[in-house]
Amino acid sequence: MRIDVLTIFPDYLAPVREALLGKAIERGRISVEVHDLRDWTHDVHRSVDASPYGGGPGMVMKPDVWGEALDSVSAAEAAIPRLVVPTPAGVPFEQRTARRWSEETRLIFACGRYEGIDQRVIDDAARRMPVEEVSIGDYVLVGGEVAALTMIEAVVRLLPGVLGNPASAEQDSFSDGLLEGPSYTRPETWRGLSVPEVLRSGDHAAVRRWRREQGLRRTWRRRPELLERLSSEELDEHDRAV
Ligand code: ADE
Repeated sequence: MRIDVLTIFPDYLAPVREALLGKAIERGRISVEVHDLRDWTHDVHRSVDASPYGGGPGMVMKPDVWGEALDSVSAAEAAIPRLVVPTPAGVPFEQRTARRWSEETRLIFACGRYEGIDQRVIDDAARRMPVEEVSIGDYVLVGGEVAALTMIEAVVRLLPGVLGNPASAEQDSFSDGLLEGPSYTRPETWRGLSVPEVLRSGDHAAVRRWRREQGLRRTWRRRPELLERLSSEELDEHDRAV
């Protein structure tokens, strides 16, 4: 998978070279190109924004600079990319979004700052490629960079060969629509707190049932709205009893 990121703060994306993502790059599983949007400006001030039509506070990012930047970055390879525009006004980014994007060969992240990007940039790009405006949560960041990093990490860890143990992605919170329950490791007792007996029993069926129950309880307490989304086939008799 090839990932391009367009931003006026390329250094913000430095963490993609670290840890799991860095390994995926080293192994050639992904390539990540971070581009400075100002490389496509033509004025001495290298300006990327202007005041909004209709008035109001803040600045809007100019279409001409973004247009040239996207033309050039999307033409860098033959495959048609999916364009992702992080914005608090977008549709929610979820685990299933990450799963869907993990099937793509190319993703471009267009990170806007200030009050956003001129809408025509998005409308124009949509004439040539699939475009999604997405939000990582109901809060406002100063720009799309951290959101892009978050989404890149969520997508890349799903690619085959990126996680050491592929089973970890299958057992994630959200993979079965529930939050994951608690985990424990050695020692058996620590500061007077013991690991639940069942996890030491060696009874794999009992462990599976216990984990499912913990996941259900935690989801009920912390994210009850997630339970509403489960279809009746996804809950068995035992689940209902919990
Ligand atoms: N840019 C600013 N806030 C954001 C959010 N919550 N999600 C995605 N992009 C953003």
